Formats: sequence, structure tokens, C-alpha cells
Amino acid sequence: MASSYHPTPLHPPPRLAVDVGCGTGIWTMEMAAEIPSCHWYGIDMCDVQPPTYIAPNATFELQDFRQGLGYQDETIDYVHQQGLTLSLPVKDWIQLLHEYRRILRKGGWVEIVETDWRLLRTGPYGDRINEWVRAAARYRHIDVRRCRAIPEMLDDLGFTDSQRTTISLPMGTWGQRIGEMAMDNLIETLEALQPWILAAGCCNESSWNEVLDGWKDECSSHQTFLNAKVYWAKKGRSKSEGSKSGGSKSSGSKSGSSISSPTSSADLSV
Ligand SMILES: C[S@@+](CC[C@H](N)C(=O)[O-])C[C@H]1O[C@@H](n2cnc3c(N)ncnc32)[C@H](O)[C@@H]1O
Repeated sequence: MASSYHPTPLHPPPRLAVDVGCGTGIWTMEMAAEIPSCHWYGIDMCDVQPPTYIAPNATFELQDFRQGLGYQDETIDYVHQQGLTLSLPVKDWIQLLHEYRRILRKGGWVEIVETDWRLLRTGPYGDRINEWVRAAARYRHIDVRRCRAIPEMLDDLGFTDSQRTTISLPMGTWGQRIGEMAMDNLIETLEALQPWILAAGCCNESSWNEVLDGWKDECSSHQTFLNAKVYWAKKGRSKSEGSKSGGSKSSGSKSGSSISSPTSSADLSV
């Protein structure tokens, strides 16, 4: 069973799954509808899921993954992570992957959807934005290129059957609806990063709008795009060595909601 929401072959279907850094919880809720026999935990350090309908087979919990994941060893069948590159300092990557291995049952799957935020086919404005993102990340001790090492990190931890695919996201109107959504998402991300971009000294407030406006036009003339990678791998052998003991569940859970996985099928990789 693979779908547009997840390339991982989920057969037999998972019984317990965790969406780490679930954000709005939209992906979690879509999965809860797609596989109703599974209980879906969406965890995030911010309470940003809509307070409306929550499926009976979904629970949202406030958890800070830096404190460890609040699940017992070898109890989870499927772990999904999407869009955490800008939240993960280098030192936290390996710790989080260790946690995935700890909570996954033997044969369970981890699936990671990440981008290094490097715009491709850029002009001068796109180059500026690439520079902004890297500088803001460095300011927070984050290396956005770290996600490129996910296959090696999973391999070192004993995951098997590792696979990956690339999803290219066009930026702007040349990419039609998906392109417009991808551009909006990047602009929102830049706005969230603005304090660090300014603090890093690579832009000032007066040039901010000029660069963004110039970039919006440039995207169409250059057909700018961004690559996201999806990695999935299986916990191969039962392991107790090197894993840390389980954390305790955080309070603040909501029972009963990510942007959807990117859906562009065009692989524009260069
Ligand atoms: C870019 S959003 C991605 C949300 C969702 N996965 C998606 O793809 O739409 C990153 C999310 O990670 C959460 N996050 C960042 N650091 C975290 C931490 N230490 N523990 C738990 N959640 C965290 C943020 O609150 C935010 O909701």
C-alpha cells in the first residue's frame, strides 16, 4: 500500500504511527482517513492543529522531540517526518533518528520528507534568497545540507531496504497551482526566518521587499524550482544496543490534525 501521501509500502498496514513535527496536522488527518485501522499520533511543540474535528483514530500531543519521543521502545510501526530541516541543529539529527529506531518495532518503517531549501535555476534574486536561508540557518547552528546525509545516517543506524525519490516543486506561476502554493510556502518560511536573516546581516529591511518582488518575477523567467527528497527505510534488526530508554508521554494531548506531501510528479532534478 503506497499512496500520494506516502511512498512507503505500508503492508501490512501500521497499527500505531507517529507524525513528528506534524504542524497543522493535515497530513496526519489525511492518513487517519486513509488507514482507519491505525492510530495516528501527531506530535509538535506548538499547538497549531485546528481545534475542530479530530478523527477518533488520531491524537495530537504536545511534545518537544529534543526531549526524546514519548513512546515505549519498539511499539510504533511507522514514523513520518516532514519539513524539519530548518528546525534541526546538526547535533539533534542523529539523536532524533536514534529515537525513531528506538520506538519502531522490528520491520517498522521510517519515512522522511525534507529539502535543503536550495533554489535551482535561479537568477540574481534567487541567489540572494539562497544566501539568506543559509545565513539564517547558520545563525541558528543549523546546516540545511545535513538532510543530504539522511541515507548514510539511516544506514549507520542499521535501517535496511532504504529507498528515496525526488519531488521537484516549481516556484511561481509557471508551475500553475502547485507552483503558486510552493512559492507562498517559501515566502511564509522566509517571513518566519526574517529575524535571523536580518540578524545575520545579509539583508536589511529596505531591500527585503525589493528582493522578494524581483524574485517572484524571476521565478517564471528562469523556471525556478526546489527539490524535496523522500527517504524511507525499514528497521531491520531488533536492537537494544545503543538505544536510549523511552521518554514519558507529554501532557496536552488532543484526540479525535503538515501540509500534504508534495504532489508534483515532475522531476526537474539537475
Ligand atoms: C515546517 S513545519 C512542518 C510541519 C509539517 N510536518 C508539514 O510538513 O507541514 C515544522 C514543524 O516542526 C515543529 N517543531 C520544530 N521543532 C520542534 C521540536 N523540537 N519538537 C516538536 N516539534 C517541533 C514546528 O512547531 C513546526 O510545526
